[in-house]
Amino acid sequence: MKKLKSYHFIILLLILVSIQILFFNLIVRNDLRVSGGAFTSFLNNLFDYDNFVVAKLDNKFNDFQLNQNFSDILKEGPNDYIQGIYYPGKTLKYVKKVSDGYLLYEIPEDLVKTPKNTDKIYLIVVGEEVVFSNNNLLIGNNPSKIKLFSVISETKHGFKVVVGYTIGSIVLYDFLISLPLVLLFAFFYYFTFYYYSSKYKKITNSISNLVESLEKTNELINKKRIVEYYNCEINSPELKLLQKELQKMVHNFSDILEKQKIISKEYEKTLEELEITHEILLNRNIQLISALAEAVEIKDSVTGNHSKKVVELSLEIAKILGINDEDEIETIKYGAILHDIGKIGIPEAILNKPSKLTPEEFEIMKKHTIFGEKIIKSIPGWDLVADIVRHHHENYDGSGYPDGLLGEEISLRTQVVSIADVFTALTEDRPYRKALSVDEALKIIKGMVGTKFSKRIFEAFLKALDRHLNAVDKNELL
Ligand SMILES: [Fe+2]
Ligand SMILES: [Fe+2]
Repeated sequence: MKKLKSYHFIILLLILVSIQILFFNLIVRNDLRVSGGAFTSFLNNLFDYDNFVVAKLDNKFNDFQLNQNFSDILKEGPNDYIQGIYYPGKTLKYVKKVSDGYLLYEIPEDLVKTPKNTDKIYLIVVGEEVVFSNNNLLIGNNPSKIKLFSVISETKHGFKVVVGYTIGSIVLYDFLISLPLVLLFAFFYYFTFYYYSSKYKKITNSISNLVESLEKTNELINKKRIVEYYNCEINSPELKLLQKELQKMVHNFSDILEKQKIISKEYEKTLEELEITHEILLNRNIQLISALAEAVEIKDSVTGNHSKKVVELSLEIAKILGINDEDEIETIKYGAILHDIGKIGIPEAILNKPSKLTPEEFEIMKKHTIFGEKIIKSIPGWDLVADIVRHHHENYDGSGYPDGLLGEEISLRTQVVSIADVFTALTEDRPYRKALSVDEALKIIKGMVGTKFSKRIFEAFLKALDRHLNAVDKNELL
């Protein structure tokens, strides 16, 4: 909607005042017409009476009885009547032509009834002269020089009757009649432009304060993590209520956050406790399984911590291969400890047979990989450890067991444990042979590159072995 401006109101006021003045003046004119009509018909009747004849004049306006000549004040007129002059004698004089002269009429002023004490002006005009008026000052004047808002009518005897108001009076009336409308408009203007615009300004200021307040509240939350409403000055009562509600909302939000913090802390504590419990349980599991592995070693008549040695060498190889992931290292570590755990299910006679196993016995022996996987899989999250246990006898050329995996189908972690296991086993005593020297073992393993092991794992193994043996030597010297 187009905005109303002050001058629109002034134009509208001018139009309305003009219409009002126009109507008022029409009414006044109508009233003057009625008054003029009444006065004219009254004069018509009055001039018909012969009772007002006071003298007989000759053709030259001589009154023989009074011996007075009226020619200087009475002149022959255009009709039966002669123009009359109102005298200080308080009578309205006029003459009527008869056959041998004129009859002089005099009407007492009291009979020419016009309202007294009014602004309405009554004039009787003959020719260019006012011969009678309720305002004595106007008698004798030229009517065209008297500024009046008037209505003119004519008597049947040739007199003009003028009824009107002075221009000053009519302007005053017009002003007085317009005053209420102007005052009403001034009042209306105050409410629309002053009152509402000042109210609008107040609301606009309050809204911008409120926005600033919300921005600062938001800044407090974002930067300082403080949930607190930033109060601002507000002039509008409605917006004050809104601010109060916002304060409440932020306060409630702060309460909820506090409660959430407490819950979160409790949750973190519970989680920590759970992690500790999980760690304890895991360690117990590992202890239990390690004890099992140890039992297997005893059963297998393997001396000198076979598993422990496999672990150390495996971790060294993993390091050379650049395996840094903690979980991966842990997997390799447990895979190495437990790789032969399945031997618990193999008869002792086979495990400790001092001579070569028959093919049937070897088939049974192979099952230790499957038994081992079954045991380890019972531990949740240890699937990758179980993978090492199942596949530590797989060969790179696919000739291994139990699944005959080929090349990189065997996971790198399993390859690591596998080569460490073979080397450790070769350098240990067995029921059917004595321990080989490092060089002899290396020679055998080198011969296995391409069949049992990949070249990559063999090279990593060599570097790791070098470091491992140095470390062992140093420990022995210490
Ligand atoms: Fe094995
Ligand atoms: Fe082994």
